[in-house]
Amino acid sequence: MSDSLRVAVIGAGTMGNGIAQTFAMHGHSVNLVDLNEEALERGMSTIRRSLERFVRKEKLSAEQSEEILGRIQPTTDLAGAVGEVRIAVEAVFEREDVKRGIFEQLDKHAPSGAILASNTSSIPITRLAAATGRPEKVIGMHFMNPVPIMKLVEVIRGNRTSDETLAETVRIAEGLGKTVGVARDYAGFVSNRVLMPMINEAAFCLYEGIATREDIDTIMKLGMNHPMGPLTLADFVGIDVVVEILDILYRDFGDPKFRACPLLRKMVEAGKLGRKTGEGFYAYD
Ligand code: 3HC
Repeated sequence: MSDSLRVAVIGAGTMGNGIAQTFAMHGHSVNLVDLNEEALERGMSTIRRSLERFVRKEKLSAEQSEEILGRIQPTTDLAGAVGEVRIAVEAVFEREDVKRGIFEQLDKHAPSGAILASNTSSIPITRLAAATGRPEKVIGMHFMNPVPIMKLVEVIRGNRTSDETLAETVRIAEGLGKTVGVARDYAGFVSNRVLMPMINEAAFCLYEGIATREDIDTIMKLGMNHPMGPLTLADFVGIDVVVEILDILYRDFGDPKFRACPLLRKMVEAGKLGRKTGEGFYAYD
């Protein structure tokens, strides 16, 4: 285990709670920040359920699970939460204006030497860094869902990120048991620039009647040895998230190859957002 750090994670949703859990599982003290108690309670109960899975699999003891929970401090006070941190990781939803507002706050309240990282899946880091007075300390730390299980952290170097910040971030990520892939700062980086067109094309295959949803998923899952077919994965990621990322790719590159499939947009309008709403390409209990 690496040295124990004081860390803040901003946003207790799917990614934020997974990131907080992962830091705590590696001995770090985490302040988990969200706007209200309900969001924090939802985040903490997801963490409890995930830790229970590790206990059931005998990968953690019940005592270790309690210790990990004890290292996570939920709070609605962002300024207080970041006052003494070495690194703050922002993981709120993909709206640039909201993220920029948070980076302004982080810059104001976090120690001057602290790293300010974003878990953004597609918004350029350089634009978030511009909202701060320390762009050399701002970096992308893109975790994958489910965060406690997935091995990758995609680290994104903004235009003004320093070598020291990059090296320290890689060290921190590796200390979490992750493997790092470094990408330059263009929309979607590598992961979503490659993944989202695949999901989009799978949606077009369904939209154009090329194959059933099951056949599309079977072909890609067994044919390419992927753990999930692309439509199942879209439900897992969230159809709204898929459309948001495609829209950012489309806007930033101005390239029609990133045009979101109309079926995906229709699903968002209908509230069929995937697992989180109980229905997407498939229905869930
Ligand atoms: N917490 C704790 N343990 C978990 C967990 C969680 N949240 N989710 C899964 N697990 C564990 C299970 O307990 C199980 O443990 P075991 O190996 O000891 O038995 C193991 O993970 C596998 O889970 P399951 O048996 O339930 O099911 P699968 O074998 O299908 O694995 C999966 C589930 C890991 C989600 C796998 O299907 C998978 O890897 N899917 C693809 C995920 C993926 O592509 N993620 C990236 C999405 S893109 C993204 O995040 C970027 C963003 O910007 C959009």
